Amino acid sequence: MRQKIAAGNWKMNGTAPALTELDALAAGLPATPPLVIVCPPAPLLIPAVDRASGIAIGAQDCHTAPSGAHTGDISAPMIADTGASFVIVGHSERREDHGETDAAVRAKAEAAQAAGLCPIVCIGESLSQRETGETLHVIGAQLAASLPETISAENTVVAYEPIWAIGTGKVPSVAQIAEVHDFIRAELENRYGPDVGAAVSLLYGGSVKPDNAAAIFEVDNVDGALVGGASLKAGDFLPIIAAL
Ligand code: G3H
Repeated sequence: MRQKIAAGNWKMNGTAPALTELDALAAGLPATPPLVIVCPPAPLLIPAVDRASGIAIGAQDCHTAPSGAHTGDISAPMIADTGASFVIVGHSERREDHGETDAAVRAKAEAAQAAGLCPIVCIGESLSQRETGETLHVIGAQLAASLPETISAENTVVAYEPIWAIGTGKVPSVAQIAEVHDFIRAELENRYGPDVGAAVSLLYGGSVKPDNAAAIFEVDNVDGALVGGASLKAGDFLPIIAAL
């Protein structure tokens, strides 16, 4: 049975008062919740860890090196030191805004694993790549180049986020989501073996909302969601968690 995961990515949103959302989340969790992860901005990691009850905390990025002359960056051991247990790597906004390559994403995922964190490795095609029929080719190439050599269900999560669906309100059809998730599952089984490939959790991300979550979660090989905007308020995130 794969781990069901509802992960919230607050992106660059939230100062200390936003931590009250963690209280509301904790108060509203179902009796047997999936694994719920909240990834706040880095300055909130420590207070979020201190405050969160029944909720795991993750960071949104890490450097490839454990320490060094990299002004403004945060290393995986530093994130682990806060008590956080996850880190998103390779989000398309990092790839676009900071020129992160697949090789850099893999190095970050490996750094996370080495620090005892579980990386949530993001992949996804652009609108033009989808429109030209390149989606599975792009996803395959990103998987091959972004994932560490060694993965397990415990130390890696994969998130499929079509770039054109992020923050746009445009959601792929369930058939489109199923096609990509089935492809990712097959690629993982092929590369890492059937046991590991079948066990790693695959998340869908991109405009997941309370009113579409249930249909997305019914898709085979969708084990949860990486939620952006709708994770900022417990009132929006809780119905998504409940649908999982
Ligand atoms: O990391 C989260 C994704 O980028 C999805 O963001 O739910 O606001 O579309 P969104």
